[in-house]
Amino acid sequence: MTDCQGAESPMELYEKLTAQGDEVRALKTAKAEKAEVDAAVQLLLKLKVDYKKVTGQDYKAGCPPSENSVIPDNGPAADGADDEDTVDPWNVSTTNAKGVDYDKLIVRFGSSKVDQELVDRIEKVSGQRPHHFLRRGIFFSHRDMHQVLDAYEKQKSFYLYTGRGPSSEAMHVGHLIPFIFTKWLQDVFDIPLVIQLTDDEKYLWKDLTLEECHRFAVENAKDIIACGFDVNKTFIFSDLGYMGACPEFYRNVVKVQKHVTFNQVKGIFGFTDSDCIGKISFPAIQAAPSFSNSFPQIFGSRKDIQCLIPCAIDQDPYFRMTRDVAPRIGYPKPALLHSTFFPALQGAQTKMSASDANSSIFLTDTPKQIKNKINKHAFSGGKDTVEEHRKYGGNPDVDVSFMYLTFFLEDDEQLDKIKQDYASGALLTGELKKILIETLQPMIAKHQERRKQVTDEMVQQFMTPRPLNFNL
Ligand code: TRP
Repeated sequence: MTDCQGAESPMELYEKLTAQGDEVRALKTAKAEKAEVDAAVQLLLKLKVDYKKVTGQDYKAGCPPSENSVIPDNGPAADGADDEDTVDPWNVSTTNAKGVDYDKLIVRFGSSKVDQELVDRIEKVSGQRPHHFLRRGIFFSHRDMHQVLDAYEKQKSFYLYTGRGPSSEAMHVGHLIPFIFTKWLQDVFDIPLVIQLTDDEKYLWKDLTLEECHRFAVENAKDIIACGFDVNKTFIFSDLGYMGACPEFYRNVVKVQKHVTFNQVKGIFGFTDSDCIGKISFPAIQAAPSFSNSFPQIFGSRKDIQCLIPCAIDQDPYFRMTRDVAPRIGYPKPALLHSTFFPALQGAQTKMSASDANSSIFLTDTPKQIKNKINKHAFSGGKDTVEEHRKYGGNPDVDVSFMYLTFFLEDDEQLDKIKQDYASGALLTGELKKILIETLQPMIAKHQERRKQVTDEMVQQFMTPRPLNFNL
């Protein structure tokens, strides 16, 4: 559009854009001529640029411009232009066997890449070799990590916040990723950690009773404790337990609730008019632990202690909202470190899900179950016959067993050799699977051993509001 055209209001532009998005989709569905589709997409992109000029915001389907400040979220491509990845707190899927396109996700969510420079800085500031999750791009995206490190270098400490939605007793290996990494951060930076168990969230979203959700929270706490957290530096809480026990926490929930409109959560989370009001207000409860004065027993009345949240990237919508609200209620924005998803056994098109037993390796699986599941279900990038495999080699980029090894095999050289040998055909699928089986079996057995040592008293201790070892 040229400048000589009369200025349009944000709402007019929004409506035009929505109509144009529908048009593009309709053309694609009707398998229209490529030139026609391209022209329609071009117009759509132009409208988007205009929209941003006028509103200072990115267009997001289903989220009309509001007078309120808007969360910097570019949303799924409304132009339907080959962006097939779905990533939100409830769904993760892509058509690509290599998994979600994480570089695109960084652009879409407006976060920053964990690049070599940041990894080097973490090494320098912590004085420790960076965890292989950092070295290998598993924690691939962040918000404000440089600020956290700047402050830490000036002796200004921070705290960690992560969480888990206890939807069942069964945790799988993928659930461990954020906790393994959080434990590493706690160790190298020597900082306190709060872990939120959202039993309330699971009650609101699933067909479960309050009692069941709370019981799952306590059971899951045992698996989390088994990751090795230091009881003197870690507070684990269930929302159903802590919300009523800590007025300061509830005050922060209410503050957030007052500063986010229904319109905004609709845009961020896709809630509709028929979602229960519990869901609509829940994001405020996941936001509250990002503010240090939600934990007076740990931080006193200090409200300015920086929070760092390690989590899987699907949780980012909650924290985009939190970061938008924070300055308006007088708090620092939490920083974030985002991980990729842990692929399902069947392939990286979806993430591992506890509700699909065949897609998952559970923390309770026996060595035999682990072996059978991997041999039977782990999607292979190998060739159909040994002859072909030897001749053409396998494809580690789509091979689930190889992907799992990038998460759990610590030795970089060994991993590299496996990759090369697999790609050249020297290593067969069965042999690759055997390496994975022999990596996971002892790892899970050790986890089970540690979990057995976790007594009810220990859980109680972790879950009791109390001061932690933290010098302000
Ligand atoms: N909503 C998350 C889930 O369903 C649980 C959660 C709460 C969380 N607070 C968090 C996860 C902070 C990561 C970081 O699993």
